[in-house]
Amino acid sequence: MDRMEVIERLNGIDLPGHLHTPMSLQLAQNFEFKEGDVLIVTYPKSGTTWMQEILTLIYSIGDDEIAKTVPNWTRTPWLEHTYFKDIITEDDGPRIITTHLRSEVLLPQLRNSKAKVIYVARNPKDVAVSFYFFHKMAKFLPDPESFQNFLKQFLQGKVCYGSWFEHVKSWYNCRQSLDFFYYITYEDMQKDLRGCIKKLCKFLGSPMYSKEVDRVEKHCKFSNMSQNKMVNYMLIPCEILDHTQGKFMRKGVVGDWKQHFTEEQNVMFDKIFQEKMSDCDLQFVWDME
Ligand code: A3P
Repeated sequence: MDRMEVIERLNGIDLPGHLHTPMSLQLAQNFEFKEGDVLIVTYPKSGTTWMQEILTLIYSIGDDEIAKTVPNWTRTPWLEHTYFKDIITEDDGPRIITTHLRSEVLLPQLRNSKAKVIYVARNPKDVAVSFYFFHKMAKFLPDPESFQNFLKQFLQGKVCYGSWFEHVKSWYNCRQSLDFFYYITYEDMQKDLRGCIKKLCKFLGSPMYSKEVDRVEKHCKFSNMSQNKMVNYMLIPCEILDHTQGKFMRKGVVGDWKQHFTEEQNVMFDKIFQEKMSDCDLQFVWDME
């Protein structure tokens, strides 16, 4: 099946032409956030869909009706996508908005907006593996060829959405400039989903009873989410996501990179990681041995 060739560029970063146009990117840069908005920010494959589901369930106080009937791209739309303007309302919210854009693009509007920003990071080794398998099925992304080839491009930041390192650093460095910024990792959510849900409720100012937290936790488990058509991307036609090549809800585990990296790739990765992150005091909880 042929791949879509069109690529858009924003500040030197490639974005797939599918769902991104010069106009949609312009609108994203001019978007006026308001109090009550919640912005989920991620580098792709870091737990975006998981966080979209958690926030949907927190705001529905554990009622899974919306999560089971409305696709995630409608209830938590991507700011930079073409359909965003048709979906976003002027309601007082909370409006849950998603983005993969870099902080340089959004910081001017976010500052003083009182919008709440939640940044989800994931071990870049697992991100690289997940992104590689996603490239195999996503017809709007370039053919990744071999994992070796893809990993090299990923480490050089020569993939769609740019460098993982710059994405994480640019957003993490915003924590002082934004009034409401919450940093969380995919690994935190794997380790203690319930604890993370409670902390998110606190950050959002949206308290819940223990029984309600039970429902959010149950609904957001991988085994449940992977069966939910509103988030598992099985609704997307094969010309866009080739479901014969894999699943969007692939494995949902920590440390799958160990099944895919050679010793040599791991050494190269660690070296580049140390170099690129040397100017950032972010402490990661995952093991980078
Ligand atoms: P894998 O490919 O490693 O399985 P994103 O939503 O940012 O594109 O991230 C997708 C990754 O998050 C995939 O990782 C997917 O399986 C995983 N994921 C989605 N929902 C999850 C959940 N409830 N629990 C654990 N992992 C989840």
